[in-house]
Amino acid sequence: MCGIVGYAGAKDASAVVLEGLKKLEYRGYDSAGIASLNGRLAICRAQGKLSNLEIKLKEKPLPGRVAIGHTRWATHGAPVERNAHPHADESGRVAVVQNGIVENFIPLRAQLQQEGHRFKSDTDTEVITHLIDKYMAAGHDLAAACRLAFQQLEGAHAIAVVSDQEPGKIIAARLGHAGGVIVGLGHGENYLASDIPAILEHTQRVVFLEDREMAVITAGSVEFARLDGSPVTKEAVGITWDAAAADKGRYRHFMQKEIYEQPQSIQSTLRGRVDFTTGRVTLEELPLSPAEAAAIERIVIVACGTSAYAVLVGQFLIERLAGVRVSVDYASEFRYRNPLVDAKTVILAISQSGETVDTLAALEEGRRKGGKLWSIVNVQGSAVHRISDGAILMQAGPEIGVASTKAFTATLTDLFLLGMYLGQLRGVLTEAGSRELAAALARLPELAGQVLADGGNDYEALAELYHQKEHFLFLGRGLNYPIALEGALKLKEISYIHAEGYPAGEMKHGPIALIDRDMPVVCLVPKDNVYEKMISQVEQVRSRNGIVIALVNEGDEGVAKKSNHVLSIPRAHPLLTPVIAVITLQLLAYYMAVRRGADVDQPRNLAKSVTVE
Ligand code: M6R
Repeated sequence: MCGIVGYAGAKDASAVVLEGLKKLEYRGYDSAGIASLNGRLAICRAQGKLSNLEIKLKEKPLPGRVAIGHTRWATHGAPVERNAHPHADESGRVAVVQNGIVENFIPLRAQLQQEGHRFKSDTDTEVITHLIDKYMAAGHDLAAACRLAFQQLEGAHAIAVVSDQEPGKIIAARLGHAGGVIVGLGHGENYLASDIPAILEHTQRVVFLEDREMAVITAGSVEFARLDGSPVTKEAVGITWDAAAADKGRYRHFMQKEIYEQPQSIQSTLRGRVDFTTGRVTLEELPLSPAEAAAIERIVIVACGTSAYAVLVGQFLIERLAGVRVSVDYASEFRYRNPLVDAKTVILAISQSGETVDTLAALEEGRRKGGKLWSIVNVQGSAVHRISDGAILMQAGPEIGVASTKAFTATLTDLFLLGMYLGQLRGVLTEAGSRELAAALARLPELAGQVLADGGNDYEALAELYHQKEHFLFLGRGLNYPIALEGALKLKEISYIHAEGYPAGEMKHGPIALIDRDMPVVCLVPKDNVYEKMISQVEQVRSRNGIVIALVNEGDEGVAKKSNHVLSIPRAHPLLTPVIAVITLQLLAYYMAVRRGADVDQPRNLAKSVTVE
């Protein structure tokens, strides 16, 4: 949830950390702070957005060459300055930032209070500071004191620590799944971050800490060890993203930029994976023989949020293209229902961040039960990527806007490719069928570009008319039912309008009672096998005076006549229509949120990557 950045080198450390935190603000934005070492330990913290911290730092800079910083998304303790990280001990010797939850903080705090430690915040994190202070006071050096302290913590954590007793050092640790801990390697300087964009402009060589690993970072060196003190040798990974990709550029919001990047990200997703002449799909990251593909009896796809809606499209596509039985589940539910998994089952996780704690737990449950683990993941080196036996990297580039957009369409494209790949290996897809699908894929970036370039859809006018509505319904059928769910999620998360996605055929079983002249209903009516059925839903909404906003294929005058408004999309292959349709709904949600004056990139209460349960 929260974001951590650290720096040791020759530059103004707090300035480097502040810039890094700006790139991580999507992870948490209710308070922030920096601790810097300049002989003594100095800390600056501020409630609210990072800009408040920046103002404070301008008034009273924090000089020094070593610093750690944190942007917070509160779990324990209200989002006020007193609870903002870093937390220092009473003597002002040690400062700590943490991402995660110290589940046993109540008994630890009681014990420390009995020993004479006085607490200044309501957070769980402060116990870590006091524990380290206690062990340093007993004569341990910083790394040893941290080890002893960390061994007492229950829960999952990413932690960074500095102390004026050993002023050149940052100690970083990862315990369980509480988001990434990434060490960035430079020349005469080293970095620490919870996510790659924070340090991308400085280095593309990074090392990912695994569970129960620590790093001692100075300007000239990084030493890695396990929590028991035994040294560990780590390999650096080269990151392929470039710094410009993590920048807003000419756009007003990251979400807007990311919506407009989709022709490019879909193109990158296809690059090198499809032979457009033969229709053959190759997924090098998932090498499989025909016999191995034939041996798969079931695929269980798990994910959360937007990724979980991609799962529903994936179920449809993989069953259709590869003839494999697919079941789907929310990752947050999967492990709590004793799922049936065996060696012939593949657990396929979908995650943009690769750090979603429930998705990781679902994969671990699959592993415990003997399943094979695959993933479709955007962040190279993330926990989901590392735990998987085979992973398809999304090629969407960094996604910063909290509302997921380009990662969703990249995922849909990857699921289509996976369906084709398995279908070809299992002999389900014919050569002619493969060529037809490859030709449809080849057009996809261009079609996505048309949706974005087309001035025909007046999203701003729709936003003007309906931004004050309190409820919206989104209806779709078949492959476009998950797109109705995603359209509703996009609208509610960034504009705070209550929206429900529904399978259109279910409307008469309940939601129809909601329809009146105040209810806008977005009906997805592209020309596919359920087109006629969707038209009858449009009629039913209209006959109850509902406001129909119909998403149709270009030139569909018939549906246009029955609707109050249309959003048109170019005609794509029916199995790829969801990719094109969802872009329209992303834009609708975006303009609605802008018209309501909402904070598009940092919607209230939401964080980009959910690393706590
Ligand atoms: O990083 P992940 O794909 O695992 O994240 C899953 C969800 O938390 C995420 O999709 C969330 O629902 C977004 N806010 C959707 O816009």
